[in-house]
Amino acid sequence: MENLGNLRRSHYCGEFNENLAEQNVVAMGWVNRSRRLGQLIFVTLRDHTGLVQIAFDENTPPELFEKAESLRSEYAIAIRGRVALRREKDINPDMATGRIEIMATDLVILSTSEVPPFQIGDENVSDVLRLKHRYLDLRREKLQQNIRLRHAAALSVRNFLAKEGFAEIETPILTNSSPEGARDYLVPSRVHPGRFYALPQSPQVLKQILMVGGFDKYFQIAKCLRDEDLRADRQPEFTQIDIEQAFIDQDDVIMLTENLVAQVFEETIGVKLPTPFPRMAHKEAMERFGSDKPDLRFGMELVDISNIVAGSEFGVFQGALDANGSVRGINAKGCGKYGRKQIDALIDYVKTYKAKGLAWIQLTETGEAKTTISKFFDEAKLQEIITAMGSENGDLLLFCADKNDIVFDALGNLRCELARREGLIAPDDGNFKPLWVVEFPLLIWDEEDGRYYANHHPFTAPMDEDFHLLDSDTPQLARSKQHDLIINGYEAGGGSIRIHRQDMQEKMFEILSYTAEQAHENFAHLMEALKYGAPPHGGVALGLDRLAMLLCGTANIRDVIAFPKQQDGACPMTGAPNEVFAEQLEELKIQFVQEDKK
Ligand code: AMO
Ligand code: AMP
Repeated sequence: MENLGNLRRSHYCGEFNENLAEQNVVAMGWVNRSRRLGQLIFVTLRDHTGLVQIAFDENTPPELFEKAESLRSEYAIAIRGRVALRREKDINPDMATGRIEIMATDLVILSTSEVPPFQIGDENVSDVLRLKHRYLDLRREKLQQNIRLRHAAALSVRNFLAKEGFAEIETPILTNSSPEGARDYLVPSRVHPGRFYALPQSPQVLKQILMVGGFDKYFQIAKCLRDEDLRADRQPEFTQIDIEQAFIDQDDVIMLTENLVAQVFEETIGVKLPTPFPRMAHKEAMERFGSDKPDLRFGMELVDISNIVAGSEFGVFQGALDANGSVRGINAKGCGKYGRKQIDALIDYVKTYKAKGLAWIQLTETGEAKTTISKFFDEAKLQEIITAMGSENGDLLLFCADKNDIVFDALGNLRCELARREGLIAPDDGNFKPLWVVEFPLLIWDEEDGRYYANHHPFTAPMDEDFHLLDSDTPQLARSKQHDLIINGYEAGGGSIRIHRQDMQEKMFEILSYTAEQAHENFAHLMEALKYGAPPHGGVALGLDRLAMLLCGTANIRDVIAFPKQQDGACPMTGAPNEVFAEQLEELKIQFVQEDKK
């Protein structure tokens, strides 16, 4: 292996074109592929900008030729050479630099490579293997683009917010619990045995305290850590664009955020999102889309047919109505052609959302209606249902009867599943439909625990007109000043106007059944701060990873994070979480309890 010596890169691989013909150049990168054809050796050289072909021909001095012959995939090399136009028949239209090649005059092998466990760019490789050798997978063109696009988005955010007068302020990683509904990651203290720091689930409490501290426009691109179950759009460690302002109201937060998001989309992928973004009350979102994060790229809205079917003999429907539930349906346009197997697959799908089944009406192209409910409804009733569903020949109507939350969840998800199956939406379709969901319920009743939980977090303020409900016997009817930014069915961000009065915050903790002790343990510092002239304030946190997913057109969060965790939260590359040395545990005064395996 050799050193660079006085070689300096003149161009990136993707920059070569006909205008450089006859110039002497230096290129560096990795051997993508190397092949010998008689007296010729062709090497495709790769860096993050693309590929370029290097040629060694019969005029190459023997020792250089021999050296070129030793090249293997993923060797890191530098070459000096002359840019040559390819003959017409040798032009490669599939390669951006395919009209030229570099005739090598010098080759430096900077680093050899073992045979890589998979070929760079090969999509048919297990995720675990790729994560284990992440440095190789990162060489892949798509990942290079994604991670750089993410950088561009973060830069655009910083520029926008700095111009708006925001200061980026760091908050600690070693801190105490900040509840966002997940479990805390804990870090033991050596100096204070038996005591633990909590890693922040978000900078929520501290950014509020910054408002009391007089920094009225704060932001931070902040790492957040939550010990929760992973999904395709979730990681235990993720990044928020965290924003807070004082002396403002909800409109200020919403307008600032949508202008920020619009700038990011335009600067990074050239997409103009019309502002203002539409806003929709939570109740409307649930009733029309069965979800608090509706994907507005397609229709198939829910229709409530409870009134039409009330009083029937169909036990499934009537049972749901008697139990205060509802019967709702969606019209899967053009799916009247579905066979039994396909419909059964949809029924299995909704069962994963706790629905017991689906009733359906299938309208053939000729207008004939096949249905599971013909026994219970006469021709006129069926027609009434079909009309209410806005159906035409060739449609498939699917109905769910249950408690409202199950009906919403099942049909809301079924709606998206059908859109994916029918090709109405794809992560990379370039169609972006942002939406603010507002007027969320402040509280969620938990049947099992027999108590209220905050829908967002305990610091979210109720809407002024619903404030009185907190003292009534129906506090669950109170709506809050929460605002979630939804893009294509993803929760891209969420925030709220906060409670800034200490007495109100105390009342909120009471409603949420926090004991005075719990409130004191976790939030004494916030409660103290609120006593000293806390200004009205509020903000938002955008998921940088989720935004990057949307910008990159991927449905997998791991495609936009350099070093993501796998499904069980482990990292196959570093081996984290690792076992530690006995001395470390001793120092921390930590002992394991053997789990009782009964
Ligand atoms: P929230 O919990 O809604 O609000 O989080 C804000 C945004 O962060 C993103 N996000 C995640 N992204 C990837 N993996 C995860 N596990 C994950 N969890 C959340 C989402 C989400 O919309 N402190 C409040 C914000 C505020 O009130 O200002 C908060 O953390 O895009
Ligand atoms: P069953 O009474 O379980 O045999 O169901 C009769 C029909 O109603 C079947 O086609 C089921 O798929 C459907 N069905 C069952 N439960 C529900 C429900 N909760 N909502 C809508 N349809 C249902």
